[in-house]
Amino acid sequence: ASVVVMASGTGSLLEALLARADEPQSPFAVTAIVVDRDCRAGEIAAERGIPLVVCKLRDHADRDAWDTALRDHVAALAPDWVVTAGFMKILGDRFLGRFAGRIVNSHPALLPAFPGAHGVADALAYGVKLTGTTVHLVDSGVDTGPVLAQTAVPVEVDDTEESLHERIKSVERVLLADVVTDLVTRGVVIDGRKAYIP
Ligand code: GRF
Repeated sequence: ASVVVMASGTGSLLEALLARADEPQSPFAVTAIVVDRDCRAGEIAAERGIPLVVCKLRDHADRDAWDTALRDHVAALAPDWVVTAGFMKILGDRFLGRFAGRIVNSHPALLPAFPGAHGVADALAYGVKLTGTTVHLVDSGVDTGPVLAQTAVPVEVDDTEESLHERIKSVERVLLADVVTDLVTRGVVIDGRKAYIP
């Protein structure tokens, strides 16, 4: 199966997916990488000779034009699945409509707690003792799609956002690669808010 990975940051989740895809029995390949800015994830694509799409909001008249361009770029790649791995933009209705049910996101908190772009900092500030990571299908909300898998991670008293995020990422990269592997081979059953891999 072909997977397109979308990223905006340091690309640690991307690298975990690439490593899993490189395993001999892997049922999926990362056929292209899409970034919305100049970032380490884009450099990884160049280093690994993987097709790279750069689609920056500022290169388009407005958000709708950007969303349309993003949809068309990814549609041309014809992936079986799209994975947002630290992609820091909200996907628009055009993109979501085109790939509905086939977009997987990883969020560094136990949804529905702490959605949005600061889930790690918000969990730390709240003082929870357990946070974690959630892999879910993307719908039109912000981190609101059906949950596929979660792993809990303890918060330590001396944690900073960075130390906590690193601890989350250490389990997140494994969970995301596991879920993508299972999804591409077994698909997903969605029943309203609930989703499970048969
Ligand atoms: C991950 O924790 C992801 O859940 C969040 O941003 C982080 C991306 O990390 N949205 P990286 O860019 O893959 O290192």
